[in-house]
Amino acid sequence: MSELPKLPKVYAAMSMPLEGMNRLRKLCQVTVYEGNQDPTRQEFLDGARGMDALIVDPQVTVDKELLDPAGPQLKVIATYSVGLDHIDIDLCKERGVKVGHTPNVLTTATAEAGVALVLATARRIEECIRAVKGGVWGTAWDNAMWLAGKEIAGSVIGIVGLGRIGLAIAKRLAGFEVSKILYTGRNPRPESSDPIGAQFVTFDQLLEQSDFVIVACSVNDSNKGLFDEAAFKKMKRTAILVNISRGVVVDQDALYNALKSGEIGAAGLDVTTPEPLPTSSPLLTLPNCLVTPHIASCTVTTLNAMCELVVDNILAVLEGRFLKTPAF
Ligand code: NDP
Ligand code: DGY
Repeated sequence: MSELPKLPKVYAAMSMPLEGMNRLRKLCQVTVYEGNQDPTRQEFLDGARGMDALIVDPQVTVDKELLDPAGPQLKVIATYSVGLDHIDIDLCKERGVKVGHTPNVLTTATAEAGVALVLATARRIEECIRAVKGGVWGTAWDNAMWLAGKEIAGSVIGIVGLGRIGLAIAKRLAGFEVSKILYTGRNPRPESSDPIGAQFVTFDQLLEQSDFVIVACSVNDSNKGLFDEAAFKKMKRTAILVNISRGVVVDQDALYNALKSGEIGAAGLDVTTPEPLPTSSPLLTLPNCLVTPHIASCTVTTLNAMCELVVDNILAVLEGRFLKTPAF
């Protein structure tokens, strides 16, 4: 009797929508990390050993420590993210490991979450909810400025990183009758900024002029710790910082001090260092800091679309085709 052909082996750091997984399971032997939390580093290193393909997310660092024990048969890594800062791309190139990611399909969901953070911080929604649940509503009309927020209309919006998501946020906020949209980055992007009338400025000019500073850049060596003590000092005392990029762009101790001392008005963060943010983080003690658990791309539509891309990318490489959305 002839031996059945061996199915390629895939290890996934997390469970994914059923439809995509079923498509993968028809053609591959798939092992999914089953824990409630992310796998520990050792669990992932053990799981990756001998695999043909890995499915990772931004919590899984892809480096020599992972690629060495995974073995030379590893052909493809698909990350459940557009961000690639957790992956040593040069090393993957060197080892001939293909890398796929999930651009475009998550732009809308992430931009909507960015706008939600702008609105929630501007109108102090978390404080409002706490006040209602805490039974303070009713006594507080004594203070005419109780829970007074900030309007988006007429404000200056500053986007750090006018890429796909930064542009999608800018377009949505333009509908709020803002006075100006500024952006900064390593290069001007007139093809994106001209149609919406956004102005390219230096980082410092953006900090000095913006009422809302929205961080939507990809992370690289040029922007780790970009928002430090000096940056917060340059911002308006009423300014609101929103970060949907990555936690490392912001020095969190400096942010805490800036929020506590009133150097800036408020912050809305979808990303932090580390993740999950420990409940003991001083940031969580501040009424003017709102934190969501890295959910900007988490809508049903987007998570399904990301899963489809992850599966497309894995199958493409295993079947000898080009990645659908290559990281390089
Ligand atoms: P793009 O590649 O389209 O855009 C990245 C942008 O970052 C570019 O415009 C680039 O501009 C800019 N950039 C890079 N370095 C700097 C810098 N030093 N200062 C200012 N801008 C900079 O990526 P996307 O828009 O698709 O995604 C952006 C990032 O958002 C992802 O890499 C990821 O980290 C994060 N993200 C977070 C999600 C969440 O759930 N919170 C969901 C999805 C994405 P230039 O090259 O001109 O500098
Ligand atoms: C991304 O796509 O980079 C997000 O951070 C994770 O979904």
